Amino acid sequence: MKDYRATAPGKVILFGEHAVVYHQPAIAVPVTTVQAKVDLQATGENSGLRIIAPDLGRDYRLAEAEADDALALIIRLTLARFQQVESLQATLIVTSTIPLGRGLGSGAAISTAVVRALAQFYGQQITPAAISDLVYEVEKLYHGTPSGIDNTVIAYEQPVYFIRQQPIERLPVGRAFILVVGDTGQVSPTHKAVGHVRRQWQADPQRFESLFAEAGRIAATARTIIEQGGPGATLGALMNDNQAVLAAMGVSSPELDRLIEAARQAGAWGAKLSGAGWGGNMIALVEPEAAAAVSDALLKAGATGCIITEVAPS
Ligand code: PMV
Repeated sequence: MKDYRATAPGKVILFGEHAVVYHQPAIAVPVTTVQAKVDLQATGENSGLRIIAPDLGRDYRLAEAEADDALALIIRLTLARFQQVESLQATLIVTSTIPLGRGLGSGAAISTAVVRALAQFYGQQITPAAISDLVYEVEKLYHGTPSGIDNTVIAYEQPVYFIRQQPIERLPVGRAFILVVGDTGQVSPTHKAVGHVRRQWQADPQRFESLFAEAGRIAATARTIIEQGGPGATLGALMNDNQAVLAAMGVSSPELDRLIEAARQAGAWGAKLSGAGWGGNMIALVEPEAAAAVSDALLKAGATGCIITEVAPS
């Protein structure tokens, strides 16, 4: 039987998380060193679709899936889009090297890989925009008001300058730069930190709107520097400024602060949390010669994993 395989990368948010929910600009880049993979094999049996996710210890049938099952939802949405009403006789195996629930886009990457594998299976062409729209529907399960940045950067697999509900803007990268991504090891459900920010904003709209606007200004300045291939030290300083804004929003944590400080002490140009915060991952911008030292320092400071990744010119 023929085998259909598809992958999708992880992502990091470089600038503007949280504020992006409130229509401020943000910047995200794909991280191809980690990947979600989907393997789809037609079975020829008449027993529907079997879904196997070994990392999650799950093995079940599409027909038995709960209403809030993310894998079942993306499969059903994709089958509806391809107008495949007859039941699919196949086995779908999902694996991923993207740590789950830690701000690296594992959910959006798995959904994207599922859509791509089903598109191959049915011999359908599907644009990144259409994939992104389908994946966005699933992102809503994780928190009710996703900005859409995760599904966009992962479906397009390109750096993006993202403003909610505006046409996608690809972000050209003038010069390669290197990020060290450090994992606190703590799972951080996005909806909790997003809900916290929403409550704080409702309690003190003036203060929070000025924090969101400040994050937006930082992202807009960073965009120009990235496009022009400007100095790493300037971009790093903007990351530090963005971290101060995120800490003021209340979404950093002692573990994130410790890793961010360790990266700066080890010579990073700048460091900040990435994603929802309260755990998950942090990122540090480094010159190539400093990458190994920063990664060692993060592991010594308690990071449970480190990824060194290059954002290539585009
Ligand atoms: O899913 P995460 O942890 O990468 O967080 C997404 C970024 C937020 O701005 C906090 C939420 C959103 O919808 O953009």
